[in-house]
Amino acid sequence: MDGNRSLVRLQQVTVRRQNQWLLKDINFETKLGQHWALLGANGAGKTTLLQLLMGMMWPTSGDVWVIGHHLGEYDVRELRKEIGFVSNRMDGFLEQNLCAADLVAAGKYATSGLYATITEEDRHKAHHLLQEMGAGAIAWRAYGLLSQGERQKVVIARALMTDPKLLIIDEPCTGLDFPSREHVLSALEGFASDQQPQLLYVTHYPDEIFPAISHVAVLRHGELVASGPKREVLTNEVLSTAYELPVQLFWQDDRPTVRVKRETP
Ligand SMILES: Nc1ncnc2c1ncn2[C@@H]1O[C@H](COP(=O)(O)OP(=O)(O)O)[C@@H](O)[C@H]1O
Ligand SMILES: [Mg+2]
Repeated sequence: MDGNRSLVRLQQVTVRRQNQWLLKDINFETKLGQHWALLGANGAGKTTLLQLLMGMMWPTSGDVWVIGHHLGEYDVRELRKEIGFVSNRMDGFLEQNLCAADLVAAGKYATSGLYATITEEDRHKAHHLLQEMGAGAIAWRAYGLLSQGERQKVVIARALMTDPKLLIIDEPCTGLDFPSREHVLSALEGFASDQQPQLLYVTHYPDEIFPAISHVAVLRHGELVASGPKREVLTNEVLSTAYELPVQLFWQDDRPTVRVKRETP
């Protein structure tokens, strides 16, 4: 496989659990230099797909390559060192008393478990990452005291500590008010100006697809409805199919907005 150019590749991937198709016949590929959004309604299979990429779940059939590694033939612990992963489910596992900078710095060792070894250099890098996320001011505050938006910036900075080649972010804006959401998105926009890490931003809100995202994949009931350059994929037809509602798409400042079409009386 062309490991230098494809970052993620799924070939005829199927996941079946308890007589249900979680993913069905997925063929999907991302290339270096692209940033992706994975879109779909609740239950569409987005998190399942991410779990495959992280080696946290195995396909029933088909093949998965991540950063050139064929899963099943490569140590998943090594793989996870090359991927930054942010999920809401992690929040409860994080040490609430640690200051934000230390929590970010500890991200360097999260996959190896060597927590006791945070150096001044790590702390310096953590602080820099927090500044880039627009959260430099809260670096020395305990994680447990932070607002939800600030916490999201901390967990994203933490995932960047290992300089991953791929940054997977699963619905980071859930529960945020709209200014906090915009702060998180504009921080990500800043990181996306680089080729590395490739972003794989997962959401059920098309409105969150910020300008630096170049490509979109859409899932519906475990099947890939469409994938490709965002202006080709994000159409009224594709989104109406994905959400099973007639919707109208608008673009403003390279951001999509979706409204439900009302029947005119
Ligand atoms: N391990 C599992 N066993 C059985 N069903 C599962 C499992 N994990 C997820 N599901 C189901 O698969 C579907 C897709 O879930 P998920 O990938 O979490 O969707 P999304 O992230 O798009 O909301 C849901 O119906 C969910 O209940
Ligand atoms: Mg999910």
